[in-house]
Amino acid sequence: MAYHTEIVDLTTLPPAHGILSPREEAYYQTLRFPKRRTEWLGGRVALKRVVARERCISDWTQIEILPHENGKPQLFVQQKPLTLAHSITHSHGFAVAAVGSEGTLLGIDLEKIDHRIDAWKRDFFHPDELTEESDAFLTALWTQKEALVKLLGTGLSLRSKEVCCINGTPRFSGRALELYNQLGCPSLTVTTKQWPTGYMFSVAFSAR
Ligand SMILES: CC(C)(COP(=O)(O)OP(=O)(O)OC[C@H]1O[C@@H](n2cnc3c(N)ncnc32)[C@H](O)[C@@H]1OP(=O)(O)O)[C@@H](O)C(=O)NCCC(=O)NCCS
Repeated sequence: MAYHTEIVDLTTLPPAHGILSPREEAYYQTLRFPKRRTEWLGGRVALKRVVARERCISDWTQIEILPHENGKPQLFVQQKPLTLAHSITHSHGFAVAAVGSEGTLLGIDLEKIDHRIDAWKRDFFHPDELTEESDAFLTALWTQKEALVKLLGTGLSLRSKEVCCINGTPRFSGRALELYNQLGCPSLTVTTKQWPTGYMFSVAFSAR
């Protein structure tokens, strides 16, 4: 497999103490809302579990996940940047992290399957993407878009219709296409599954 994932149930999180480095602890203390604090910590627990397992690290405070200026998580081990591809998502009680190989690109997204109003559909999706109408399909499509946005690494600065996924195949335009070209037009795969039950989970990743 090109990547490893870890899911964390946010109702069973261990205490932050002993998990966070001093730099992470300082950032954590700036988060005021309990939901945000729980999700942020959950993402760290999930990602640290994968990295600790893969790199045989027992002291989780040696692994740091700090936010880059655009919100993208940056991974450090013993304060040195680690170039493993990685991504975090959280939704309604769960946090998930994924780690890919060095030199690859990766983005993940988890969303609870929900009914959305028609205006949402019109605002965010290109007509070519809407080959089905079910809540499960539209939620899956949304997770594919978000996973691709995270893979490109830009966060909110893209228009949603510039990042399309048509029958599982990414299609970029505008600023998203510029970014994709800057990355060297890597071959991308997007996979989606219902996981856990009632949620859609997508992974977008590049070949090595
Ligand atoms: C931030 C964004 C990348 C995803 O946000 P989201 O789906 O609301 O939230 P998720 O829980 O799935 O993901 C949040 C995680 O994404 C990661 N992330 C944030 N900015 C990121 C970026 N620029 N690149 C990659 N990953 C990023 C972070 O790890 C964050 O968790 P953390 O802050 O606890 O570390 C962004 O697409 C967003 O806010 N979208 C809002 C909706 C929208 O307009 N979408 C249009 C998509 S084209």
